[in-house]
Amino acid sequence: MRLASTVSLAAAMLLVASAGQADPAAGEKLFTGKNCNGCHYTQGPAQEKTIDDQLAKKGPELWYAGSKFQKAWLKGWLADPKPIRPLKYNSLTEKNPGNHPKLSAADAGAVTDYLMTLTTPEVKKGAAGKGKKLKGKLVFMKKMPCKGCHQYPKRKKVLGGLSGPSLVGASKRLNPDWIYAYMMKPKVFKPVKMMPVFTGILNEVDVKNVTTFIGKFK
Ligand code: HEC
Ligand code: HEC
Repeated sequence: MRLASTVSLAAAMLLVASAGQADPAAGEKLFTGKNCNGCHYTQGPAQEKTIDDQLAKKGPELWYAGSKFQKAWLKGWLADPKPIRPLKYNSLTEKNPGNHPKLSAADAGAVTDYLMTLTTPEVKKGAAGKGKKLKGKLVFMKKMPCKGCHQYPKRKKVLGGLSGPSLVGASKRLNPDWIYAYMMKPKVFKPVKMMPVFTGILNEVDVKNVTTFIGKFK
């Protein structure tokens, strides 16, 4: 009896594993095992308080990764990382060397399951709502200097500035509710100023509109 139930439990577990069920604990182990935590911290809230704290960081904070990224993108990127920031992290002159550590597809899946558990209540589901894309375009292209710092797609071309992360592919990479939360409350995510703060300059509707515009970038 006991043997039979152990066997069926093992079989059930195997089934769960082969069905590709999330296994965040295994992903967390890999995250430390592969020394990802040597460059990324995962414990919120934001730890950096001064510009020196920011400059000491070797990679972006990941404590809200599950709120920021889209799962399918994350899994694909970890297995085949391509530069997001045109410039090297924390540099205004050097090019991104494009040498981010790469994971096998299986490890990328497990680490993604782990990173997707790192969420924050600051990002509220549905908060970005449905903005007006054309009004958002006006904000991004004309009223505000967004395109001076961010690459964006235009037909088959990539235009825009280099000092911020590229927004090309944002429709697949970023969660619009995170973009909205970040624009409304940048200090929660980036307490040390790296991007001009638009709180008080752009109202809620402007932010929803520009989020909708960015959220369609291919
Ligand atoms: C030597 C430092 C270093 C190590 C080790 C490292 N990363 Fe990174 N990571 C970076 C840098 C720098 C970036 C920014 C890359 C870019 O913008 O193209 C980054 C970006 C990321 C991003 C996207 C974050 C964002 O906000 O754009 C994720 C997710 C990520 N790393 C996960 C991992 C995982 C998982 C591992 C372990 C397998 C790992 N990293 C190992 C330095 C590192
Ligand atoms: C002076 C340059 C500058 C301007 C202007 C600027 N940004 Fe940024 N932006 C940045 C930098 C730098 C970051 C990265 C901050 C960090 O990770 O510390 C960033 C980050 C972002 C992100 C998150 C991207 C990611 O992958 O993490 C979004 C979305 C964004 N900006 C949208 C905008 C919008 C919309 C505007 C215009 C209203 C704008 N930005 C104007 C420099 C700029």
